[in-house]
Amino acid sequence: MKRVRFILSIAVLLAATSCTAQTETDKRVDELLSKMTLQEKIGQMNQLSGGAELKNEAAAGNVGSILNCTDVKAINIVQKAAVEESRLGIPILVARDVIHGFHTIFPIPLGQAATFDPAIVEKGARISAVEATASGVRWTFSPMLDVARDPRWGRVAEGSGEDPYLDVQMGVAMVKGYQGDDLSDPTSMAACIKHFVGYGAAEGGRDYNSTMISERSLRNTYFPAFKATAEAGAATLMTSFNEIDGVPSTGNKWLLKDVLRGEWGWDGMIVTDWNSAGEMIAHGFSRDLKHTAEQAVNAGVDMDMMSYGFIQYIEELVKEGKISEKEIDRAVRNILKLKFELGLFENPYVDETASARVDYAPEHLEAAKQCAVESAILLQNKKNVLPLDKAKTILVTGPLADAPYEQMGTWVFDGQKEHTVTPLTALREEYNVIWEPGLKYSRDENTKDFAKVRKAAAKADAVVVFVGEESILSGEAHSLSNLDLQGAQSELIAEMSKTGKPVVVVVMAGRPLTIERDLANCDAMLYSFHPGTMGGPALADLIKGKAVPSGKLPMTFLRDAGQAPFYYNHNNTGRPNNGTETLLKDIPVEAGQTSLGCTSFYLDTGYGPLFPFGYGLSYTTFEYGAPVLEKAELSENDVIRVSFDLKNKGKYEATEVAQLYVQDCVGSVVRPVKELKRFERITLAPGETKTVTFELPVAELAFWNFDMEYVVEPGDFRLWVAGDSASGEPVSFVVK
Ligand code: NOJ
Repeated sequence: MKRVRFILSIAVLLAATSCTAQTETDKRVDELLSKMTLQEKIGQMNQLSGGAELKNEAAAGNVGSILNCTDVKAINIVQKAAVEESRLGIPILVARDVIHGFHTIFPIPLGQAATFDPAIVEKGARISAVEATASGVRWTFSPMLDVARDPRWGRVAEGSGEDPYLDVQMGVAMVKGYQGDDLSDPTSMAACIKHFVGYGAAEGGRDYNSTMISERSLRNTYFPAFKATAEAGAATLMTSFNEIDGVPSTGNKWLLKDVLRGEWGWDGMIVTDWNSAGEMIAHGFSRDLKHTAEQAVNAGVDMDMMSYGFIQYIEELVKEGKISEKEIDRAVRNILKLKFELGLFENPYVDETASARVDYAPEHLEAAKQCAVESAILLQNKKNVLPLDKAKTILVTGPLADAPYEQMGTWVFDGQKEHTVTPLTALREEYNVIWEPGLKYSRDENTKDFAKVRKAAAKADAVVVFVGEESILSGEAHSLSNLDLQGAQSELIAEMSKTGKPVVVVVMAGRPLTIERDLANCDAMLYSFHPGTMGGPALADLIKGKAVPSGKLPMTFLRDAGQAPFYYNHNNTGRPNNGTETLLKDIPVEAGQTSLGCTSFYLDTGYGPLFPFGYGLSYTTFEYGAPVLEKAELSENDVIRVSFDLKNKGKYEATEVAQLYVQDCVGSVVRPVKELKRFERITLAPGETKTVTFELPVAELAFWNFDMEYVVEPGDFRLWVAGDSASGEPVSFVVK
């Protein structure tokens, strides 16, 4: 078989050549490095959590970076100790988990991914950087690039969901937003791409769990977002907690040295996750803390977050010849380079009055609102109940309607709930609101107030029920085995369905929940991943019809958690779905032994998910014309051009996320049934038709094949353009 090869070595060579040209920064790094003692070098490799109490460590040169301090006075105290009292005056680098906003909180990253709008995501990251740097934070542990296909894993909230291509687009947008055009700009914040790698594939969705990922899957699915963001200039990278095929990432030389540094030529700084070096003891990979330091540094790690192993043992390990000074110089060079690039030597201190000028600025709140509007997904709208543009009096109920803290979502340390605008507050601007919470919080099982809610519903034109998850139920270490709405929330929705009033359900959650029975009990459902500070006004605009939903699902929605992991871009089985699934109710008693349709499905939930990846309705409907390929026969250097007409058939101006999927029909290894390759948000006036053209270089059809080469294999392909991953009719093309 003729194969179109992509010569990796050229990229590596180019990267290597550019590294050999010594920059001004390199010269400054070398000069400083030459003056440092071994102990001072080791101090730079140590990151500690804390604030002013670390000033003596800073003065002694025992710490290179601190995390978890945003008290600007404390930051300046530690910085002063480092700059004015330590022998070489090397500034401290201040880090923080700024995951989806600093003070102004944007939708959780999974919600941002639902916008399919890299521009608003980049803007959100820029605003996060402006606010965080004003409080002295110059390094964020974001974006999280872990492809996640199991909604039981609590950290699905922090990433872009199940698709590698969407992950690339969102990750690159965040890196650009955080870092700006120039790292030395005082409003620039170094990004940290994490968690390298495979952390999202935790078995059973249990956080920190082992993963089994083949090298080919790593390369085809889990690496792309890391590679793309590394190429986009991400300044730092974090190793993950998990092990892959028996090797914890923090001690994985193949990952860090061979792939990241070698193949990709990336020259940023590598930090461990919190004590992920120390945890190699519990993994049974290291004998003791000293051994963890030896393994991590030799694998290529530059900085240790909170295991204390580096600071305690590296000197001894160097003396014993177990770590070479060359490895230490490599690590310290990467750390110092970043500090020079950030301009910390010139501008170490933070202006203690700056944050008051930028926090919650009107334009920040406006962007957060726009992002929240774009991130909400309309899952159901029977009889076009939404928007509620005619209703005058509405009943607002449910535990998430007025929960300013919960609607910000996971990983919020600095956002203040006093600044959050809840749906209840925002809806009061639009309607006569009758407010009866029904339940106090999402896990509340006490239904004693339901009678009051029922009574109130009688006086309203429509009922809007806000349900979901408290913020603490998703995020790190918050996996769940049952994904139904918690507490008596489903009962509350069921009660409302009996009132005869139009019932709109808004779900505010950190992950895809299993909401099939709730859909049956309402007319319309808007799914809003925790929408952040401005979630209330965004949802009120959508409910009233001042804005039209345009979000699309970044993860497959399941009927039952037992279907997980489930993702649209899976490989095919030898017995794919052929529409002959036999469900429990169809099986006679004492049925004879039979294979029941002989395809891959569940007897209880069938074959398909509840909603496919990419799904989302609008207040209008869009009609896709048949895709027309410019050429149906292409060669390796060609660009696939496919055009189609998109028509807005309704009465609202609205935005559709058009999606392009491709299938490589036959490969040297089994290929996914479909892969997202392009998407675009297209806004159309009522009745308007636009001809849309997607361009896709044939080179982007490459994958890691049987021989573990990155190639486009000639042959037959199918292509879809559609509003989700399960729609559309394919057209075929051939790569010669
Ligand atoms: C552990 C988490 O896994 C990581 O994402 C985070 O950045 C660090 N803790 C620091 O808080």
